[in-house]
Amino acid sequence: MRRIGMVAAGIAVALSLAACGGTGAGGANGGGTPAATGSAGATGGTAAGAGALVGVAMPTQTSERWINDGNAVKSALEKDGYKVDLKYANDDIPTQTQQLDAMITEGAKLLIIASIDGTALTSQLENAASKGIKVIAYDRLINGTPNVDFYTTFDNYAVGVAQANALLYGLGLTDKDGKAKTDAPKGPFNIEVFAGSPDDNNAKFFFNGGMDTLKPFIANGTLVIKSGQTSFDQVAILRWSQDGAQQRMENLLTSTYTGGAKLAGVLSPFDGLSRGIITALQGVGMGPTLDKGLPVVTGQDAEIASVKLINDGVQSSTIFKDTRTLAAQAVKVAEAFLAGNTPEANDTKTYNNGVKVVPTYLLPVVTVYKEDIQKQLIDSKYYTAAQVAAGVA
Ligand code: BGC
Repeated sequence: MRRIGMVAAGIAVALSLAACGGTGAGGANGGGTPAATGSAGATGGTAAGAGALVGVAMPTQTSERWINDGNAVKSALEKDGYKVDLKYANDDIPTQTQQLDAMITEGAKLLIIASIDGTALTSQLENAASKGIKVIAYDRLINGTPNVDFYTTFDNYAVGVAQANALLYGLGLTDKDGKAKTDAPKGPFNIEVFAGSPDDNNAKFFFNGGMDTLKPFIANGTLVIKSGQTSFDQVAILRWSQDGAQQRMENLLTSTYTGGAKLAGVLSPFDGLSRGIITALQGVGMGPTLDKGLPVVTGQDAEIASVKLINDGVQSSTIFKDTRTLAAQAVKVAEAFLAGNTPEANDTKTYNNGVKVVPTYLLPVVTVYKEDIQKQLIDSKYYTAAQVAAGVA
């Protein structure tokens, strides 16, 4: 009876959260744009190669970051006099390849691509190269081809490190800078780990950064991945699906946490997954908030639904990757190529796509806890305070 009551309470919480914008904790991956998309890289005036068509291929509109990325790239390029064909592929690989074929046929002079599957574009890119079309991999590396000219992204390994540090901090094991605390609790703490889509090159970087950081705490017994599911293949969630994450968490709760074992934290690499995980946890009566015993759950992207959850003391943290700066960087690189110049890279070692090391520009990332929302997200005009309160942009 008691257990049924707890489940019902969990469902009630989940439902009331759903009323704020979608299904489950903080809603499904919501759309929307940040309060200000900024003038990403726009230099104003007439740029070299002005008037040229640029194809911008984004993976999906189910996660708001890609909507923000697409809009920011498009508006900055248009401001500088370029024509832009912006397309979203609904997370469907054939749709993305068809969109790229169409962009090339239309006469695009440059392609900016955030791929769905980083290995699925080889023939499109061969075609592009044969026509002298430059290709910029946007946020996600394109693998297995010589025909990718540049990569603009955030420091993906650093994202994973930051997520693991946020988990350790949330468990009271380290301070905010990742330094072990002398008065830290001994544990052991049970945790579970999740990874992103196996066909997205970033997913492994996030996972490796996270696991390398957690490793010493696992080795000395402070942290225990109780399910025993520790390899990338066991914990990856195809297409970054929120429902897939909820399902896996529900399975873990049933397989591993019904005999009284307590779950203390979950390493989650993306806000959408985090909301699925939180829905599963609340569904068995955990929480509903951190101060009521909800396990520490990390995230990424500062999606508005998750920022609200952080503000409400439900999700512990997210990693903020300011899409305005990535868009600005991609536009800068695009304009350099279109003017016949070589864009500046700040990493020429890390991103080997299996055929070559792709020159890369890496941007830094910021961890956001509840107390950072004002400075990082509101003062920077990424969101308004009202959007944070509502959980909808
Ligand atoms: C991006 C993340 C995002 C994820 C899911 C990754 O490639 O780097 O920012 O959370 O895709 O959309």
